[in-house]
Amino acid sequence: MTGHVPDGGSDTRRPEGPEVPVAILPSINSHSSRGPPSASHAAQFVGRRSEGRVLKNLLDNVYNGRSEVLVVRGEPGIGKTTLLDQAVDRASGFQVARATGVESEMELPYAGLHQLCRPMLDRLPLLPAPQREAASSAFGIAGGRSPDRFLVGLAVLSLLAEVSEQAPVLCVVDDVQWLDRASA
Ligand SMILES: Nc1ncnc2c1ncn2[C@@H]1O[C@H](COP(=O)(O)OP(=O)(O)OP(=O)(O)O)[C@@H](O)[C@H]1O
Ligand SMILES: [Mg+2]
Repeated sequence: MTGHVPDGGSDTRRPEGPEVPVAILPSINSHSSRGPPSASHAAQFVGRRSEGRVLKNLLDNVYNGRSEVLVVRGEPGIGKTTLLDQAVDRASGFQVARATGVESEMELPYAGLHQLCRPMLDRLPLLPAPQREAASSAFGIAGGRSPDRFLVGLAVLSLLAEVSEQAPVLCVVDDVQWLDRASA
């Protein structure tokens, strides 16, 4: 959901290309155009009202059965992870699946997807055999050759569909620039 894409400008706008909403984070402190809030503010969440409204709207829509996606972009240290933490805190009644791209794991296929799906893996036995086997192999639960990416993708969709029968699901992926390619 987030990445280090230097950009400035308004709170939300659409990029060229696919219609994916993007929230571009400006600096919180109006006296400074770069960097995180001052240390005195670090312990307490400040500002981000318009972004908070966007996130609340997104959560409300999902809670009411719609699918939503939001990409959060901003300079390093601007507050992306903190904003995502806020979204998770507000997502009462949701099941939260979270993953963070890790630079040292970029060469490990499916490492990011494994993080995201870990809380759902107890549902694997419910999946059709080809999907179950592909996901098991991708996530190191079973041996075998390198899995078909299409089947792994289908398995993830099936897992999400399974868990969403119980409650709405919020997937949060941070530092996407460091996700392994197979997961991304
Ligand atoms: N709204 C906020 N209120 C108070 N402190 C904040 C706020 N946003 C960010 N911070 C503080 O600023 C610092 C950087 O925030 P954060 O880690 O969320 O940035 P980031 O954009 O995710 O950074 P990176 O690009 O390195 O992943 C942290 O210490 C965090 O606590
Ligand atoms: Mg971050």
